[in-house]
Amino acid sequence: MTPTDHLIAPHGGTLVNGLADAARTEALKSQSRDWPSWDLTSRQLCDLELLLNGGFSPLTGFLTKKDYDGVVAELRLADGTLWPMPITLDVTETVAEGLTQGSMLALRDAEGVMLAALHVEDVWAPDREAEARAVFGTTDSAHPGVAHLHKANPVYVGGRVEGLQMPEHYDYRALRHSPAELRAAFVKLGWRQVVAFQTRNPMHRAHQELTLRAAKALEANLLIHPVVGMTKPGDVDHYTRVRCYQALLPTYPQNTAMLSLLPLAMRMGGPREAVWHAIIRKNYGCTHFIVGRDHAGPGNDAQGTPFYGPYDAQQLLEAHQDELGVRMVPFKMMVYVEDQARYLPVDEVPPNTRSLSLSGTELRQRLADGREIPDWFTFPDVATELRRSYPPRQQQGCTVFFTGLSGSGKSTIANVLLVKLLEMGGRPVTLLDGDLVRKHLSSELGFSKEHRDINIRRIGYVASEITKNGGLAICAPIAPYDAVRRHVRAMVEPTGGFVLVHVATPLDVCEARDRKGLYAKARAGIIKEFTGISDPYEEPTDADVRLDTTDMNPAEAAHAIILHLEKEGYVRGA
Ligand code: PPS
Repeated sequence: MTPTDHLIAPHGGTLVNGLADAARTEALKSQSRDWPSWDLTSRQLCDLELLLNGGFSPLTGFLTKKDYDGVVAELRLADGTLWPMPITLDVTETVAEGLTQGSMLALRDAEGVMLAALHVEDVWAPDREAEARAVFGTTDSAHPGVAHLHKANPVYVGGRVEGLQMPEHYDYRALRHSPAELRAAFVKLGWRQVVAFQTRNPMHRAHQELTLRAAKALEANLLIHPVVGMTKPGDVDHYTRVRCYQALLPTYPQNTAMLSLLPLAMRMGGPREAVWHAIIRKNYGCTHFIVGRDHAGPGNDAQGTPFYGPYDAQQLLEAHQDELGVRMVPFKMMVYVEDQARYLPVDEVPPNTRSLSLSGTELRQRLADGREIPDWFTFPDVATELRRSYPPRQQQGCTVFFTGLSGSGKSTIANVLLVKLLEMGGRPVTLLDGDLVRKHLSSELGFSKEHRDINIRRIGYVASEITKNGGLAICAPIAPYDAVRRHVRAMVEPTGGFVLVHVATPLDVCEARDRKGLYAKARAGIIKEFTGISDPYEEPTDADVRLDTTDMNPAEAAHAIILHLEKEGYVRGA
């Protein structure tokens, strides 16, 4: 009898181990000198890890054409095994050109280390619109899975992979387990019935209640199995989440719950994703799988309509659970019933009873404002972790990004703002003035559109780093092009505040001032591509503050910005 005999069998019957032994690894390494290489994307790295460690059993590689066709059309591999999600390796045409059936492809991580060898079976250009429609039920790129497909490389390469080494992780190593390791841990602990909880969010009291109820009802143990590979863009980072899960773990009865991290790249595929998640948990030795409201939901489409119904995922998994052998534990949304001082599934709340819940948006807003997070909503230790990662706005970093014509007053106002912010204290302030940047960061660049865009992206990158680290960045370039300004906003906003200040002093006023004598030179044709004279300036339509310095002195202008920063909560009023 093997020690895992009493556990649920992996999907397809055998747990895949895709790692080659030492001798084979050496042989592959030396043969690989002549092979083409592919540097895996973050998502492909996640997929490779689960292919190699058996989390994706029975898959032994990236899908071949006939498996892919079956999965896309009817959620089945060519041999009939249930598999709802295409696991594909997308590569560029250039890499694909040299590949045919029987070729070998070296799969490498971002540093160029070879992690696996792919035995190429199929190379084809997929119909990605058709894939999106079939797999996600939409071609709308507001769906993150579809957006990924739209950006994916044009050619798929299918075939078996042989692993040389696993992708390395240095974070939370003690909490990472392969399916074989987790199965061995269950055997050691005597856990036979294990209910898995999938999550990509911090867990609060509602989740704790739900998971505890599930485990109690089934007399099973609980595996908290959060995704730490790739989740929905904008989610709480996994470092913060894992600290939250660790803070929550002691609230479960002793020796009933375990935390393990899953390096999965989610697709936000709702119903198909729920079935996929259940299969993966089966491979990790779990007998039950919790599916709540809107499981792996991608949110709303452009019209504000949810992509999937709230219980579509439960329906699809229910239809397949007998075949899978993993039992679904369906849950309605949990709400806090104040009268009873406890959580209940929404359909069990007695009529005319007040129930409370807090949306993720409201939680984020409360954190940003430094307001109270109610005790009924989350555990104090979880709230502390969230506050550490999401301090109130007045402690967060922020970028004030000026744009405007040469001579509009950007630098002068920026310098006054610098002094005012230093006077207030509390956070480091950096001024990235247009001329200074051109001297220290962009000395080789000219004023073509291409060069200006590179210059602005560099400024944006530095500002985003300053903002991420809690500092205040003041940038004052001309930044004449709308698209790159928006790019910078998108780069900075996830890291803290971003305020676009349009110094809208009219061209004739700037030219009349001509403090540097540049307009005269531009008119004379001595300076080429001069903004406003012989080069375009695209007025922003998304400015947060608009200032015309024709009748405004620099102190007044800087004060207007401070007032805006106060209103948004990034500085505290005197
Ligand atoms: S950009 O478009 O944002 O990359 O420009 P920026 O880095 O802010 O550089 C603008 C400063 O460079 C001087 N200068 C010119 N400006 C515009 N067009 C041309 N062709 C040009 N050549 C030199 C000018 O001093 C700008 O500084 P400010 O402070 O804006 O006057």
